[in-house]
Amino acid sequence: MPDKPDIRSPTRIAISNQKGGVAKTTDAINIAGALAARGQRVLLWDADPQGYLTMGVGFDDAYTADAPNQYTALKQPGSHDVGDLILTHDEFDIVPANIDMFQLEQELVSAMRGRERVSQLLADVEGYDFVIMDCPPSLGHLTDNALLACENIVIPAEAEDTSIRALDILFNQIDTLEENFDETTITEQAIVVSNIDYPLDGEQKSMLEWFDDTFGDYIPIYEFRNRAAVKRAFNDGVSIFGSDEECDQEDELLQLADHLIENRGEMV
Ligand SMILES: Nc1ncnc2c1ncn2[C@@H]1O[C@H](COP(=O)(O)OP(=O)(O)OP(=O)(O)O)[C@@H](O)[C@H]1O
Ligand SMILES: [Mg+2]
Repeated sequence: MPDKPDIRSPTRIAISNQKGGVAKTTDAINIAGALAARGQRVLLWDADPQGYLTMGVGFDDAYTADAPNQYTALKQPGSHDVGDLILTHDEFDIVPANIDMFQLEQELVSAMRGRERVSQLLADVEGYDFVIMDCPPSLGHLTDNALLACENIVIPAEAEDTSIRALDILFNQIDTLEENFDETTITEQAIVVSNIDYPLDGEQKSMLEWFDDTFGDYIPIYEFRNRAAVKRAFNDGVSIFGSDEECDQEDELLQLADHLIENRGEMV
């Protein structure tokens, strides 16, 4: 295992793609699980008002809880301590989403520093090596908040033609944020081609080549295959690393985790 670099803790990574159903939540919990399996202290943050991650790990009550919750914290970051929101899980800690966060897209548009609320909350977070943030399937203020707070992105994408346009839109948004926020650089740490079915059909094969040709020289690409064991683990509220069942995708995810750990020193 690589030595822990002597750098500011924690390293923050947004798991983001505005396209729906591309395995953001599944990848987020399993990347968090892989990092935890490597001995990293991980805070898994549900930034999606849909709350699938929160409910997946069994925190249904937190999703509908009254204040203080993630909604009230993002409304008034100055009067909240993130520590009060954090819940404990066997593999990692969790900041649960709250159903009221659906209102935030509207409310943050006219708010002061409406894209910097998550950054403000994260400023006080200590005691973790990584924060992994599951983003919503949209390019609104919540996703902007996550990208600006993390400045690192792991992009789940499917091996489908539609991913070409989705990534184009996502990279444009990253450029726009970098132009509008001085000294902000959002770095693509990895692409995870997710939920792949073998044997590959023609579209999947040509898309894997496209990912490699287009990004292979500067963004590491990982393949996370479709496995019933992944779904079963999620339904049990754990990653494949927290499950008793063996899953042949562990190696690929551990390689991704090792890449993130080794690159911590270069990440903001
Ligand atoms: N490696 C995998 N093996 C099996 N099923 C998977 C895998 N990855 C994703 N899935 C399934 O694909 C579906 C979509 O995944 P997920 O909910 O993680 O996507 P998402 O991008 O978070 O969706 P949304 O855009 O709604 O937030 C889910 O039913 C999930 O169980
Ligand atoms: Mg999701």
